[in-house]
Amino acid sequence: MRFYLTTAIDYVNSRPHLGTAYEKITADVIARYKRLSGVETRFLMGNDEHSQNVFRKARELGLDPNTYCDQMETAFRDVWAKLSISFDDFIRTTSPRHRAAVQQMAQACYDAGDVYEGHYEGWYCVSCEAFKQEKDLVDGKCQIHLTTPEWIREKNYFFRLSKYQQPLLDHYAAHPEFIQPEIRRNEILRLVESGLEDISISRAGQSWGIPLPFDPSSVVYVWFDALINYAAAAGYGTDAALLAKWWPADLHVIGKDITRFHCVVWPAMLMSAGLPLPRHVFGHGWVHFKGQKMSKSLGTVVDPLEAADRLGPDPLRLYLVKEIPYGGDGDFSWERFEERYNVDLANNLGNLVSRVTAMVEKYRGLALPVPVVPSGRLRAISIETLATYRDAMDRYALHEAMAAVFALVDATNEFIASSAPWALAKDPARADALSGVLYDAAEALRIAAILLLPVMPTCAAEILRRAGDLRPAPDVRLTDAEWQNATARTLVKGPALWPRLEIQSAPDAAVETAVTDPTVPGPPPAPNAPNVPNAPNVPNAPNVPNVPNASKAPLAPGAPLAPEPISIDQFMSIELRVAKVLTAERVPKSKKLMQLRIDAGTEERTIVAGIAEEYEPDTLVGRLIVIVFNLKPAKLMGIESNGMVLAASGADGKPVLVEPGPGSAPGMRVR
Ligand code: MSP
Repeated sequence: MRFYLTTAIDYVNSRPHLGTAYEKITADVIARYKRLSGVETRFLMGNDEHSQNVFRKARELGLDPNTYCDQMETAFRDVWAKLSISFDDFIRTTSPRHRAAVQQMAQACYDAGDVYEGHYEGWYCVSCEAFKQEKDLVDGKCQIHLTTPEWIREKNYFFRLSKYQQPLLDHYAAHPEFIQPEIRRNEILRLVESGLEDISISRAGQSWGIPLPFDPSSVVYVWFDALINYAAAAGYGTDAALLAKWWPADLHVIGKDITRFHCVVWPAMLMSAGLPLPRHVFGHGWVHFKGQKMSKSLGTVVDPLEAADRLGPDPLRLYLVKEIPYGGDGDFSWERFEERYNVDLANNLGNLVSRVTAMVEKYRGLALPVPVVPSGRLRAISIETLATYRDAMDRYALHEAMAAVFALVDATNEFIASSAPWALAKDPARADALSGVLYDAAEALRIAAILLLPVMPTCAAEILRRAGDLRPAPDVRLTDAEWQNATARTLVKGPALWPRLEIQSAPDAAVETAVTDPTVPGPPPAPNAPNVPNAPNVPNAPNVPNVPNASKAPLAPGAPLAPEPISIDQFMSIELRVAKVLTAERVPKSKKLMQLRIDAGTEERTIVAGIAEEYEPDTLVGRLIVIVFNLKPAKLMGIESNGMVLAASGADGKPVLVEPGPGSAPGMRVR
């Protein structure tokens, strides 16, 4: 089995920002997952150099464009190395192999009768590197770059894109999986169904670019040039054996702004040149900064190196993969990054690592006991987690896969709390039971570490080592994440992986804080020193973070938190549903909590809600309510609550249940 995946190649007129880095990180997660699954993988990235903006930037700096591009290659590679991006090949569009491929494909399209000479007159946005129609401009400006395009009139060669309208539609119908996710597929279908115009594929009178083989006075248009990189790197035009091995590509990972080029123009070019089409194109969403587009002029560009330095490359990767539903838009803010670091890493996973190793050390001298008692609940959860994870990763639902792993981490923390090993340890007659608990917790941790390898390559490898698996991470396979019934191994102790940050507002931390074990200390708070040396034995261990001043600034009492705007995709990632209350009872020993059994349309669930002071149980039964359906389970007074009931904050903050209107029924989505 083989898998060839690529990312978009980046324009080099500026350094990578967090948005472009997001794409590389998510593609890297897929590449690492494929390798973990034992699939022979080729992961390509590269730089797109023949853009006019690149040429201009080099000029501005007084550099020859090739020298400038060489310098930028180093700058890009440095960022990718820092973020642990494991590409196998890196292509530049000024390289000889790329030039050979572009000339071969241009000639092939020409020979197929798909290229003809004409004149182009119209608006051209250099930042988009695309011609713009009058209707696309607002106040004469490109809506993406807010700049005035240039009026161009020149001899151009055109590619008969219109000829491929039906073949493309046929291809989309025969291969519904070609364009992902669904939302992008629908956009492209609508676009192609509405008709395709031929496109210009050359620029006259320019020197920066690859000359057309059949008319060297023109250079190839930068997009026609750039798309060919995927085939060039697989040997097209230079290495037939390599091409036979790796083409067609399995997956192009690209941003949603350039799906048109990848799902319409590129497949039409390949059809014309007689090459098979890639199997999937995945158009991911945009990463915004505090709800705003990343833009230099708005000062909303986040430097990925700064973000990686702040809390470590692996926590950054986890944040981007776990917090942004893959395919939708997402947001980055320093505050949210720190919050998630505290909740997921310091409190949950980091605490689990410390507590498992500390317990096995304390009770069994770090030698993990082989259990006599058969493993129970945690084993079942681990097996289910692996299945969910695989299914999600295979659908590129990377965020769902991460949610599954963290549900396992939560379950393991809860398992430790409910099994109370510290109590078992007091009774020598229960030594076997204690061994069972220690084994199960360590085994679940080992499994979670394997599943985290694609996202947190350095830290997960370290967790695996602490869980007693000393193999080099590249030798580990996904099948190793199957529950092993009894392997004797020695755990390894180490310093806290992610010291907790002291921040003012971490609203969800309280709810999700890991269980408390009186015998094992929780994670230590982060020291105040701005820089603490890397933890010993952890290659590239995350630096102890610097909390930005903004988040340290105390809030005035009662000051409202300024709400950050969210995108529609972010809103849609919260699944609100109508549900019906089946039973309601007060939670013993709690004034506020009510335990509800609800019908959510597709299933029944238990939800614990803080409404017991305002509502009588009897008045709730049969009532329709609105719930957050996809909230992570949380334990309240020992009861697992699966979801949250929506209530308005009435007088004195007292909850008033939100009631869906007439015609509503359990299971209906609220939006
Ligand atoms: N050079 C072209 C791609 C040619 S591929 C044959 C290009 N380059 S780019 O540098 O502008 O963008 C590179 C990739 O980063 C694109 O897939 C783009 O969608 C993605 N992103 C740019 N800004 C982004 C965000 N803010 N968020 C997520 N991805 C973003 O387009």
